[in-house]
Amino acid sequence: MSLRKFLIFHPILMLSAFIGTADGYYEYTMAECVYSTSDYSDMVYLVSLSFNKVVELQYNSSLGKFVGFTEDGVKQAENFNKNQALLQQLKADGDTSCRSNAQVLDSSVRDKAVKPKVKLSSVKQAEGRHPAVLMCSAYEFYPKKIKVSWLRDGKLMTSEVTSTMEMADGDWYYQIHSELEYTPKSGEKISCVVEHASSSQPIVKDWNPSMPESERNKIAIGSSGLVLGIIIAAAGLIYYKKKSSGRILVPNE
Ligand SMILES: *[C@@H]1O[C@H](CO)[C@@H](O)[C@H](O)[C@H]1NC(C)=O
Repeated sequence: MSLRKFLIFHPILMLSAFIGTADGYYEYTMAECVYSTSDYSDMVYLVSLSFNKVVELQYNSSLGKFVGFTEDGVKQAENFNKNQALLQQLKADGDTSCRSNAQVLDSSVRDKAVKPKVKLSSVKQAEGRHPAVLMCSAYEFYPKKIKVSWLRDGKLMTSEVTSTMEMADGDWYYQIHSELEYTPKSGEKISCVVEHASSSQPIVKDWNPSMPESERNKIAIGSSGLVLGIIIAAAGLIYYKKKSSGRILVPNE
């Protein structure tokens, strides 16, 4: 098969030929569409030909030709560059497939926004002179740009706030965490505010200082256990009573 056919039918092609047992060679062609503007004016189509991890030569649509990077790659590039039909085909492929793929991907991924899941939790409770620490986490949002802030009775808190960078989850989504160190006062309202493109309104989570969620969970589990225990004990008692009342007692004379 000619290189041209490879490139047209297999934009991303991975080919490995194994010779002998453990040793082998890995040869692959990678086609990339690189752009950062929404009108695709800076679109560059790159086709890289590699052998064992080394890029030997690359077609670059901005240059309109191949460039060799290794001794062998330079020779191959020279040969390919003599083939005007191949160069024109690559240019046309870049223009058509890069743009149409980019349009599809942009409409299904880049222009979409996914609302973060916001969780407010207690890291440390106030103890004596040590302040309390709260953490506000936003998970699984897209795109990356986000703003997390804290309010105390509606007023923005600036000091004692530490935030992590937005972290990529590796699946297009991001997460971020913000910690607030503060000295609790009774009757106050602490809120975490998350602003993101997925929601026209800020997402606000209020902190319930009387009982952190983990404590509530412990109490819920504990009381369910207690109720279950009472039911089992009552059932046992009823069973025991029935059994013992059914027994005929013969008095000792
Ligand atoms: C492609 O060519 C353009 C123009 O020379 C250059 O600016 C760009 O860096 C090249 N891209 C790569 C990945 O080599």
